[in-house]
Amino acid sequence: MGFDITRLIADRVGENYELHEKYVNPTLVDVFRTIGFDRVYARGEGAYLWDDTGAQYLDMLGGFGVAAIGRNNPVVAGAIRDVLDMDLPNMVQMDCALLSGLLAEALVERTPDHLDAVYFCNSGTEAVEASLKFARAATGRDRFVHFRGGWHGLTLGSLSVMGGDEFREGFGHLLPGDEVAVGDLEHLERVLAREDAAAVIVECLPGHSVTLPPDGFLGDVQRLCRAYGTLLICDEVATGYGRTGTMFAFEHFGLEPDIIATSKALSGGYVPVAAMICRREVYSAVFNRLDRCWVHSSSFGRNNLAMAAGLATLSVLDDGDMLRRSAEQGRALVDGINGLRGRHEVLKEARGLGCLVAIELQQPSGGAKKVAWDAVHAMHESLFPQLVVMPLLSRHHIITQVTGTHDPIIRLMPPFVISADDIRWFVDALDEVLSRSHRIPGPMIEMGRNAMKARLRGRSRARAGEAVAQ
Ligand SMILES: Cc1ncc(COP(=O)(O)O)c(C=O)c1O
Repeated sequence: MGFDITRLIADRVGENYELHEKYVNPTLVDVFRTIGFDRVYARGEGAYLWDDTGAQYLDMLGGFGVAAIGRNNPVVAGAIRDVLDMDLPNMVQMDCALLSGLLAEALVERTPDHLDAVYFCNSGTEAVEASLKFARAATGRDRFVHFRGGWHGLTLGSLSVMGGDEFREGFGHLLPGDEVAVGDLEHLERVLAREDAAAVIVECLPGHSVTLPPDGFLGDVQRLCRAYGTLLICDEVATGYGRTGTMFAFEHFGLEPDIIATSKALSGGYVPVAAMICRREVYSAVFNRLDRCWVHSSSFGRNNLAMAAGLATLSVLDDGDMLRRSAEQGRALVDGINGLRGRHEVLKEARGLGCLVAIELQQPSGGAKKVAWDAVHAMHESLFPQLVVMPLLSRHHIITQVTGTHDPIIRLMPPFVISADDIRWFVDALDEVLSRSHRIPGPMIEMGRNAMKARLRGRSRARAGEAVAQ
């Protein structure tokens, strides 16, 4: 019998975590088991997932933002199927394919006039890597400036422009540069005045903290960049393609970046894709001679499936009025959550732009709730929000995440297609979970039980291993 992927999935579904434990990342498997996230999802549509028992979930994380227009959008799926059915020659490499030209044209049409050249790659971090390399080539300078608390990806170049010691630990020397606190213009000017920085990289709305910069700050960053011959890179990997209610987040701040790095939402959540969009003169500094025509490239960068998915996604963003939906649903979500503040002192605030939302928790001022907070917080700074995220999933079937900052923040990146009923589902669930949050034993016991089960599984695995070895 020939290869049958449907059969293979039907035969092996349920082995997910064992396979990953054995062949992929067992540490991640342990974490998922401990927090009770070891579910087997079988289907996705719009803002929902269904597990292998048929139970429905509300996806408030949207695959870290890739599922912006909703999971399994039929227009994007149709475009991918059509491309497959056409038997187009994909990645001939020694040609210029039509679809990548068309997507580049469509992207340039959606960015300000001065951004008119596109480089395609496969992931957010690759778009950032390209931005850094192109900035070096265009300026002849080596160093980069980034802001504390930003997130730019985990390959070596991108990691060099991220803080986060826990992500850097063990990976050796990175690119030279400086970290500046958001708002500290004086420090920024001191660094830029050395005139050795190729670029300043910034997320206009940082995806992990979702903290708006001080008024006028980003405009001042751009002004200083211009004054000292430094390029401005806006990292739009998380915020691009409608996430903040505009096509790109820099539009909220009236910026004119020299380079933008984009990815995530561009393929409708189907296939890896990324695009770096920049000024033509920056681009030309890289591909500046015939013998340098390949000097920065990636084999899969302009592949037909990604390009078709990108074109289809842009059309869904236009036809589905998706930017307006992102702005309106995001605002309704923030308002709904903030409406709970009077009932829960532990809820500091919800904030965001469009469908990029953070919920920040805080230490209550006294009583059993403060005792609970202090006890949990003393164990780990992200444990309290984790004890909110866990019952949101186990009791309410809602997927959320604690962000990798050191602040007690839960991040939401729902698909723009969430409905008013979904928002009510989330707000009611959060209300119920926060009402019980001072009773630490509940979620702590749940976590302990999960950890114990994971450990027992590990032991029986070890025994099975011994048996095999004997
Ligand atoms: C702002 C930003 N830049 C870069 C990246 C890296 O993208 P990727 O995970 O696709 O490499 C991310 C990922 O979350 C991001 O949020």
